[in-house]
Amino acid sequence: MRDETVTYSTKLLNWYDANARSMPWRVTPNDRVGGVIPNPYHVWLSEIMLQQTTVVTVRDYFVEFITRWPRITDLARAKDTDVMAAWAGLGYYARARNLLKTARIVAFEKGGCFPNDAQDLQGLPGIGPYTSAAIAAIVFNQRASVLDGNVERVMARFHLIEAPLPGSKETLRNLAVGMLPDARFGDYAQAIMDLGATICTPRNPSCGMCPWAQGCKARARGVAQDLPKKTAKSPKPTRYGTCFVVLRKDGAVLLERRPDKGLLGGMLGWPGGSWTDQMQITEPPFQANWQKLPEEVRHTFTHFHLKLRVQYTSVEVDFNQTVGQFIMLDMFDANDLPTVMRKVWKLTLPAA
Ligand code: ADE
Repeated sequence: MRDETVTYSTKLLNWYDANARSMPWRVTPNDRVGGVIPNPYHVWLSEIMLQQTTVVTVRDYFVEFITRWPRITDLARAKDTDVMAAWAGLGYYARARNLLKTARIVAFEKGGCFPNDAQDLQGLPGIGPYTSAAIAAIVFNQRASVLDGNVERVMARFHLIEAPLPGSKETLRNLAVGMLPDARFGDYAQAIMDLGATICTPRNPSCGMCPWAQGCKARARGVAQDLPKKTAKSPKPTRYGTCFVVLRKDGAVLLERRPDKGLLGGMLGWPGGSWTDQMQITEPPFQANWQKLPEEVRHTFTHFHLKLRVQYTSVEVDFNQTVGQFIMLDMFDANDLPTVMRKVWKLTLPAA
């Protein structure tokens, strides 16, 4: 075949055959040709973890999850608190709560099988348009187009779309659908993600190695690096809060499980008041000899920065708490806490 008769989707698939990144949830293009089908549980789990989290971070969590819960039925039967603890550090904890809901629906109501098209997949908790398309394409080889930040960038550059995101999203979505191949939808979905992640990178794209370089309009104009344009976001506000670390003299710490709804929902954390837009004094949960840490903990969430003041105290063994639960330090693993709460512990430990 002469080069110009080869479609861009074929060029990308050929590139992927030689350059596919290896990931523990993936089936290589070669194995796929040999008839190996990706494990739906693995693909779903990885796609949920990959929402807002990088491949590098997800890898170890993914391996830990499938080692501990090898089948979706195992995950469905897991204790909520164990799954929340295993998710700690990945952030966006609603994902873990929805993960369990979907595991239980699939395991107990659908005979252990995921629905096989994007529409039905979207009915499951935590599965939106992107994730349903990814599962439908990757697992069931359905003609579904994945549109994440990587694919948006590739489309904006290839087609020279200068209108800024998020307004240009629909245009980019339609362009992505228009470039789909006639077969190998699963490989293509992963190929375009890999292209965005490794070649068509946000800064310093490696256009010289790109299988689409010839047709790329942004490259022809020398503006690849400037696209996609983004409408300026308003700066993140800062919120303030205080948390209270209580150490019991027999070596236990006082932790509180946060309500299921809302930020860090269902996760363990140090007792504390609500986080507010103005710095204000939060009363401790009980009277004691509270010590203030001189430094504050800083953490950035999607929509705001948080500055947390920390106070700590120690209490007698017969102390009767009114909030939370004491956990003995030999049963306590700071890795089970969400990152912001882990930061509090790290800062308090040397002082306490
Ligand atoms: N990001 C989200 N899903 C992905 C996948 N399947 N492969 C690579 N990067 C991804």
